[in-house]
Amino acid sequence: MRTPPLVVLVVVLAIASGCAGEPPGVPLGPDGEPDETLALGRDVFGARCTNCHGSAGGGGTGPRLAGTVTDCYPDPADQEQVIRDGRNSMPSFGGSLTDDEIAAVVRYTREVLE
Ligand code: HEC
Repeated sequence: MRTPPLVVLVVVLAIASGCAGEPPGVPLGPDGEPDETLALGRDVFGARCTNCHGSAGGGGTGPRLAGTVTDCYPDPADQEQVIRDGRNSMPSFGGSLTDDEIAAVVRYTREVLE
């Protein structure tokens, strides 16, 4: 059976251009391993946040987070609270994410997204 070439091309382009919606990777630390908390934050972000905030936090249904959250929330605890309790059309994640997961995704948005 022959695979239609256009389908192959589209799939290859989607993967090559990052259209699969993968959030940016976590930089490696001095030991050559990614920081575990940031890696957890990336997993949470990719699974729960990108559909509204964009795969790199650039915004969508929800506002841009990349490069804005440290100014909006000088204290990370305030940013954690928005995620835990929700606000307007931002859903609350207090019932479905642990405190550690919320803290991790907050660190990821502050330290990795730009
Ligand atoms: C269903 C869509 C949706 C999902 C999923 C979602 N958000 Fe939101 N988020 C929003 C909307 C809409 C707002 C704006 C809320 C408002 O108007 O006050 C928002 C606001 C925020 C804010 C405040 C931004 C600011 O500028 O004050 C943060 C931080 C945030 N979201 C983080 C997250 C994180 C982290 C996740 C994943 C755990 C997530 N959001 C998942 C829709 C979403």
